[in-house]
Amino acid sequence: MNFTDKVVVVTGAGGGIGAAVVKKFTEHGARAALVDLRKELCQQAAEKLGLDSTQAFCLGADISDQKQVRAVVAAILEHYGRIDALVNAAGIPGPSARMEDYSFADVKKVFDVNVFGTFLMMQNVLPIMQKQKAGAIVNLGSVSGMCAYPYEIAYGASKAAVIQMARNAANENGGNGVRINAVSPGWVNTGMMKTILASYKDVGIENSSDNVTLGPLGRPGEPEEIAQAIAFLCSEEASYINGTNFLVDGGMTLG
Ligand SMILES: NC(=O)c1ccc[n+]([C@@H]2O[C@H](COP(=O)([O-])OP(=O)(O)OC[C@H]3O[C@@H](n4cnc5c(N)ncnc54)[C@H](O)[C@@H]3O)[C@@H](O)[C@H]2O)c1
Repeated sequence: MNFTDKVVVVTGAGGGIGAAVVKKFTEHGARAALVDLRKELCQQAAEKLGLDSTQAFCLGADISDQKQVRAVVAAILEHYGRIDALVNAAGIPGPSARMEDYSFADVKKVFDVNVFGTFLMMQNVLPIMQKQKAGAIVNLGSVSGMCAYPYEIAYGASKAAVIQMARNAANENGGNGVRINAVSPGWVNTGMMKTILASYKDVGIENSSDNVTLGPLGRPGEPEEIAQAIAFLCSEEASYINGTNFLVDGGMTLG
């Protein structure tokens, strides 16, 4: 993989998978725009990775806010002059609860960030890539968007939507030189995984780690293992891969 002279935009760049994506792309020569709700998380990630100001541009924004997304994408274009890859890794799990116990406000919040935030990022970056006649987008789906696990009605439905948006947009944009795919991880060892396992107590599951399916490899994935697949899908090596939902779950959905 070679991303020399390429610019990648990563949302959720202060989080586990987002920061690993920034690491992977910059190791292969890319310059990165790191976007997160909390700018300081982006700055900490860039500092930890040893990136200088030519390699990392840190921005704080709520991706569910249309004005903020427009401003952030305009600032990145102004700063770097192009956008070659967009990785939509920002996301929230929402609470763990049965459907009848789920508050409407919580469902809306999860959709605001995971679905509408991803939509807004795609919608604002796509015209730039169309003009360049080149680009690649990866949305973070999840096995939760494909299977039907209990206690995550909002997260599961939101991730199904994120996967489907990648497919719809891929079909519309192949002719523009823009490829769009989803990556669906199983459990990944990040802050989000810890948050979800802790929230299982709310539905009466005490030893949450005994109750999660890890699949045949018997362990959660590491953020770097997800980042590797994402970078591959954005690289020239994946030039004929478009509209796919790429599973990186260690086989946990094999049954
Ligand atoms: N960790 C897992 O087990 C797992 C499994 C499958 C899919 N995923 C998906 O991968 C992506 C990354 O997850 P992660 O495990 O790195 O989580 P994480 O919690 O470590 O990181 C998510 C990041 O998104 C940011 N964020 C949240 N809301 C935002 C908003 N409105 N605007 C901008 N940024 C916002 C957070 O500040 C955080 O830094 C998510 O979309 C998640 O749903 C994670």
